[in-house]
Amino acid sequence: MRKNIVAGNWKMNLTFQEAEDLIDEIANGLDEENLKCEVVVCPPAPYLEIASDYADVSRLRAGAQNVSEYEKGAYTGEISAMMLASIELEYCIVGHSERRRYFRETNGQIARKIDRLLDYSIHPIFCCGEVLEEREQNRQFDVVKQQIEESLFHLTSEEFSNIVIAYEPVWAIGTGKTATPAQAQEMHAFIRKLIAGKYGEEAARETSILYGGSCNASNAKELFANPDVDGGLIGGASLKKDEFLKITMSF
Ligand code: 13P
Repeated sequence: MRKNIVAGNWKMNLTFQEAEDLIDEIANGLDEENLKCEVVVCPPAPYLEIASDYADVSRLRAGAQNVSEYEKGAYTGEISAMMLASIELEYCIVGHSERRRYFRETNGQIARKIDRLLDYSIHPIFCCGEVLEEREQNRQFDVVKQQIEESLFHLTSEEFSNIVIAYEPVWAIGTGKTATPAQAQEMHAFIRKLIAGKYGEEAARETSILYGGSCNASNAKELFANPDVDGGLIGGASLKKDEFLKITMSF
């Protein structure tokens, strides 16, 4: 079901104590009465259970940053969807550009990760987006289309209804260079059209599509005001309590 979502991707940051404090501050700082979005934090794996405990007693929701493409067994260092489900996580980021770039994740691997998550009813937050060179060559639509087709379009309509998409132009991540609201809207509308072509108009209307890339408290309102932008996947600004809470109120 389409809803506004603000999700914090903490990436590889913070100690246990810092994570616990930040989760507590965010959960207690949410203006639950006036909140118009689902708020998700995605801390590093060792801190996920803290977030999950807060999800039991507040409006805060918890998500992981990655999952194994394998079900279980001899895969040292991996974390399975079953494990995430066993601490009742509702979301998991997949296919983040940092994983594609530094860990060589392919669209095929990402497809398998999505399958594992859906086996356990965890909502994948599927990331897509072009690098600077691709945008300069005006290839951003082809790149995003291929990422979506190869990682998502094997799903049935029912499976697809559990997907959240995050458009994250790689040139905007951690650079302070945000996509303009018009650039975000243009790509989000394109993604929605792709979905309509494969799964129909209703599925397209019902999919949450988030923007990510240097989104902060000063630009969130303008980005989220676009008809096809349903919220944000926030990196750096999600580590600052006041900034993140402000973003959650930007609808
Ligand atoms: P920044 O908000 O730090 O640019 O990171 C965005 C991101 O990668 C979220 O997944």
